[in-house]
Amino acid sequence: MTQPATDSHDQTTYPPPADLASGAVATAELYEEAAADRLAFWGRQASELLTWDVEPTEVLDWSAAPFARWFADGRLNAAANCVDRHVAAGRGDRVAFHWVGEPGDTVTTTYAELHAQVQRAANALTDLGVRTGDRVAIYLPMVPEAVVAMLACARIGAPHSVVFSGFSAQALRDRVDDARAVAVITSDGGYRRGEPAPLKPAVDAALEPRDGVESTVRAVLVVQRTKGEVAWTEGRDHWWHEALEAAAPTHEPVSVEAEHPLFVLYTSGSTGKPKGILHTTGGYLTQAAYTHRNVFDLHPETDVYWCGADIGWVTGHTYIVYGPLLNGTTSVMYEGTPNTPTQDRWWQIVEQHGVTKLYTAPTTIRTFMKWGEELVSGHDLSSLQVLGSVGEPINPEAWTWYRRVIGSDRTPVVDTWWQTETGGIMISALPGVTSLKPGSAQVPLPGISVEVVDDEGRVLPAGHEGAGYLVLTEPWPGMLRGIWGDEERYRDTYWSRFAKEGWYFAGDGARRDADGDVWLLGRVDDVMNVSGHRISTTEVESALVSHPSVAEAAVVGASDPTTGQGIVAFVILRENAPRGADGQDVAKALRDHVAREISPIAKPRQVMVVSELPKTRSGKIMRRLLRDVAEDRQVGDVTTLADSSVMATIQAGLQGSRGSED
Ligand code: WTA
Repeated sequence: MTQPATDSHDQTTYPPPADLASGAVATAELYEEAAADRLAFWGRQASELLTWDVEPTEVLDWSAAPFARWFADGRLNAAANCVDRHVAAGRGDRVAFHWVGEPGDTVTTTYAELHAQVQRAANALTDLGVRTGDRVAIYLPMVPEAVVAMLACARIGAPHSVVFSGFSAQALRDRVDDARAVAVITSDGGYRRGEPAPLKPAVDAALEPRDGVESTVRAVLVVQRTKGEVAWTEGRDHWWHEALEAAAPTHEPVSVEAEHPLFVLYTSGSTGKPKGILHTTGGYLTQAAYTHRNVFDLHPETDVYWCGADIGWVTGHTYIVYGPLLNGTTSVMYEGTPNTPTQDRWWQIVEQHGVTKLYTAPTTIRTFMKWGEELVSGHDLSSLQVLGSVGEPINPEAWTWYRRVIGSDRTPVVDTWWQTETGGIMISALPGVTSLKPGSAQVPLPGISVEVVDDEGRVLPAGHEGAGYLVLTEPWPGMLRGIWGDEERYRDTYWSRFAKEGWYFAGDGARRDADGDVWLLGRVDDVMNVSGHRISTTEVESALVSHPSVAEAAVVGASDPTTGQGIVAFVILRENAPRGADGQDVAKALRDHVAREISPIAKPRQVMVVSELPKTRSGKIMRRLLRDVAEDRQVGDVTTLADSSVMATIQAGLQGSRGSED
């Protein structure tokens, strides 16, 4: 067992376990190789980790910065890399997914079976008129067909746009419209918290004409999961199983250029309109395979890997689908919630499948902490070797609990920092190399260049007391190639802040400790991070003001012990709005309204009815002051307020109106 050591700054660190270090995929030489020649390093990764139809001779073309081209003269197919080549190499019998349904049903899919399904699905899409370059929206719960659907799109070169199945009909329509998707792949429903939850009605609602305008969608493929009643639009709707049955069994993958779009994935920005983050094929896949293999110390012959994310988020794209399949991994995929039917469901699954690598979010870990370690101690989790964390900063207490209780006081915990925009992990320890420091994401991966800088772009050295901004100083293969249909927004959001230096602005605060390790400090823009989900304050504000009772709304993210941040809304009601006895009715109505407009994940934790909002003389809402109120702090400097008495009025009005949670 590894003994924790105390470093010079009185911070406990955990050196790699000796057995893991001696057989580790990644060694310290990786850092040296990448530092010596970064582009040659990435060239080697691309060539070794992927199978190309045409090997690229160029690595990076940055001449049209900030639009990068990686491996641009290479050609390949993503699905063939994820599936066909493993089958061709004689590994068709290896399990790709042990899928576990919430009610307890299971599906085991080998690489050969996946190959057969993806080929049929690719033909089915083609039969429905989907062509290379067309966008396909995927709105599916965590069913095995979700993976098949993504790979089928990739196989025909039709970029997928996966929309989290917890999003509302309206959110789906916004995304379908923005991407001009020609088809939607969905299901009748899925199982969630022990109940079948319908999904198809949301698709039907989303595809209704909006403001008299028809949607761009011509075909809807429906996976049968819950077998409930579904409304059917003849000519447009098709059952997935019937379409696959009718389709030809073999399909030749479409060889695309490395820069061919692989997918668009929408994420919240600091305005109300979600951004379609564009990822292309060769570079993204290189980084997906490289990071998955090295960060999780992946040994495909023996590992059983499980990422607890949803395919609706980038973590699901890169670390459930592309990374693991590229590496020929055997994975677990779980449909439901961690407490259905019992709160130890995850640990039953880990024990049953002998899971060796587990990847989840701090919010989930903190939920398990709340539920108590007794639920874990009844299970044999000795198979676990590496634990990963993603989505938000992990507090040292949760990190230590994760390692001690889940990791049997033995496994490394890698805290991985990255974003939808980066495509893959950027900052993380390597489990066989790095001594771990709870709470810090630590070091950029080999091949990745980051700095922490101040407002003027001056690099903050190791040990600098104050906080700065995290920037990425060199392009990387998995980087976004733009925002779908909005070149200007791409430049503005990421490249204008440090335009002179040519750095990518991540939107995260950070500091570097005396060892040079990076500590992430949360978003510096109007984006909240709730349970690892990015939600913009403006998006929730727009949803609130779309309710007939609301005159004005301001939303802030307040720190929350379980979810990282919780959404707190301050609303001014219209004169004639019904208020209920104590504001509770209206709070509930507004919370439900936001859930319907956006998603239950965007539901405010609290809604506070106020008579005024703090604004600057130019009319800008001072969210900083509202955050002080939401977090029960002394309200900060109010001198820039147009009316300095507003905060006192708000605080007085809020006395006794707390606890509008339900
Ligand atoms: C935050 C999720 C601290 C960060 C992969 C980032 C983190 C945003 C970490 C991206 C981490 C993600 N430590 N913060 N290990 N991982 N974040 O696009 O604010 O859903 O900018 O991608 O989550 O969220 P996204």
